[in-house]
Formats: sequence, structure tokens, C-alpha cells
Amino acid sequence: MKSFVTISWDEKSDSVLLIDQTRLPLSCQIIQCRTVDRLITAIRRLEVRGAPALGIAGAYGVALASISIRESNFPRYVHMVRASALNIGNARPTAINLSWGVHRVLAMAEKHADSIEEYRQIALHEAQKVAEEDMAACHALGDYGAALLPDTGTVLTHCNAGALACREWGTALGVVRSAVAAGKNISVIACETRPLLQGARLTSWELKRDEIPVTVIPDSAAAYLMRKEKIDCIIVGADRITRDAVFNKVGTYMHALCAKSHEIPFYVAAPSSTFDSMHYESEIEIEERERDEVARISGHVIVPDGVPVRNPAFDATPFSLVTALITDHGIIKPASDWIQIAEIHRII
Ligand code: MRU
Repeated sequence: MKSFVTISWDEKSDSVLLIDQTRLPLSCQIIQCRTVDRLITAIRRLEVRGAPALGIAGAYGVALASISIRESNFPRYVHMVRASALNIGNARPTAINLSWGVHRVLAMAEKHADSIEEYRQIALHEAQKVAEEDMAACHALGDYGAALLPDTGTVLTHCNAGALACREWGTALGVVRSAVAAGKNISVIACETRPLLQGARLTSWELKRDEIPVTVIPDSAAAYLMRKEKIDCIIVGADRITRDAVFNKVGTYMHALCAKSHEIPFYVAAPSSTFDSMHYESEIEIEERERDEVARISGHVIVPDGVPVRNPAFDATPFSLVTALITDHGIIKPASDWIQIAEIHRII
């Protein structure tokens, strides 16, 4: 596999480096975020996106805030870093990893630092740990999930839950990569993922790079293919797993309903950092994005002015439609293994 790193910390310039995902697949360019404001813009524009990558962005964001804030009074400094960090955590509401990454680094630095210098060291060290643990979690869940795939088969996925959504390897695509690395012959059907086309632009780009066979379909063709062709399973990632549902890119719920109807296993691959044991589906805010993402294509108006548009970025799939959760701690059957889910929540 031709590995690449989606998000990293540049020690020389104390900045966050990101692959600009809005430019793929036409060009692969790196953005350098030297300020918290630039990082927040990158998160809002989806230059960096995908739940685990957002977790790492949140963690590095606290390190960036801790370095850039100029204040010599330690209690005031701690207060200012916290305020800046909370702005990062609020940049997008649905993926829990973003605020999880922010709070993990804040908590560690606030608990152990007695000076500004210590605070900066601890924040960066903890952020690097978040990034390293994400890689380990993706490989672990990839290996667990690979065992669920046949020796030769086809996986349908939605959005991008690959290396570009994490630091590398991926969650749903991590399972595919681990299966291919183990010698299995897996091909992928990537739903294009209207309106921002993460499936068409990103999933196909990274699988092609790794020479894993991939075919892009319109989202609306998924039901037809589930009925007419051999799809062995659906695997998607997750932005948040509450006590009763899986939040992921809008369209996921539709695929889960279709999979149930055609008796195709529907798997969700996610690291423990995506679990939210504190909340139920009804309590979670679904990000609504701007009209023009739906109403225009390449700048051209496709919806008449004055016609309302809805653009929810995510939906929630109830556990009753999920065959199993593929996690870095193993495979969990939501209906029967409730206690195991609770154990994962305790680990977090
Ligand atoms: O709006 P995005 O592109 O950040 O949404 C991403 C998704 O919904 C992914 O499926 C999800 O984060 C999977 S995580 C590997």
C-alpha cells in the first residue's frame, strides 16, 4: 500500500499540516495551519474532514493554541488556551471525535502543567499520542473486520471512511485494506455521496492509489445493485455512536434500510474515540450545511432561486439495522452484546 499521512504536526514551524481534501482528486496539496483561526477554517471548509481526522485536528489545535497564545500569567494563559480550544471543538457539531480530541488534550495539560512551558510540552505530547493511537486503532479494527470478509467479494461503502478520514489506513477502508493485505480479493463500490462527493472524489482516489478495485455509483443506484448484483456487505464509518444509533454521512440510514431488506450484512467500523456513551440519538445536533452545496454544481445554479433546500450533513441509523460494530476492541453485535459496548464506553 502507498501510505500517506492526512494530518501531521510540523515540528520545525509548530504548525498543523493537512492534505487539502477539497482539491482532490485533481491535485494533492498540503495546507499549513499556523493559527487556530486557519485550522477552524480548514475544519469548516472540509479541507480536513472525517471523524478520526477531526479528532486529531482538535488535539493538534490545542497544541497550536498553547504555542500561539502570548500571556505570561499562568492562570490567565490556561483560561485563554481553553477558550481558543473550545472554539475549535465547536467548529463542527456532529462528529464527537473533534470535541473528544480537544478535551483529551486540554484535560491532560490542565491536570499536569504547572507552567506555560510545561503546558505546551504536555499538550503537544498528548496530541501526538492521539494521532499515534488513531493509527493503531485503525489497524486493530481493520484486522478484526477483515476476518468478516470473504476471500473474494464486493463491499459497498458510503462517503469516505478511509485514510483521508483518519491519520492513515482508515476505518471502513481500513477493513478493506487489512483484508487485501491478508491476501483477500476485495473490490469496492463507492457511493458518490452527494452533495460534496466524498465517495467519488476521495474514496476512489485513495483506493485507486492502492490498486484496490473501486467502482463509483450514484447514491441512488445502491438499492438497485443490492437487489440485482452480489454485494457481500456494506461497511461504513461513523461520526458518533450514541447509546442507540450510529451517526454517519447522510445517506447511510438509507443504505442500512436497503441492506436489511436484501439481507446483506451492514457493518459500522469505528474506533473507541467515536463512542458517545453519554447521549441518545435525540440529543445530538445534526450539522446543516449551506444551501449552495446542494443548489449549485461547479458554480452553476441547479435549484431555482426561492426554492428551499435542506442540507443535513449526517443521519442516524438505529442499532436494529446494524449487523455489527467493528471496533479496535473487537466485533460487537449491538443487539446482544450491550455489556461489551458499555465496557468500551468505560475504556473511553
Ligand atoms: O462531512 P464529512 O466528510 O466530515 O463526513 C465524514 C463521514 O461521514 C465519514 O463517513 C465518517 O467521518 C467516517 S470516519 C472514518
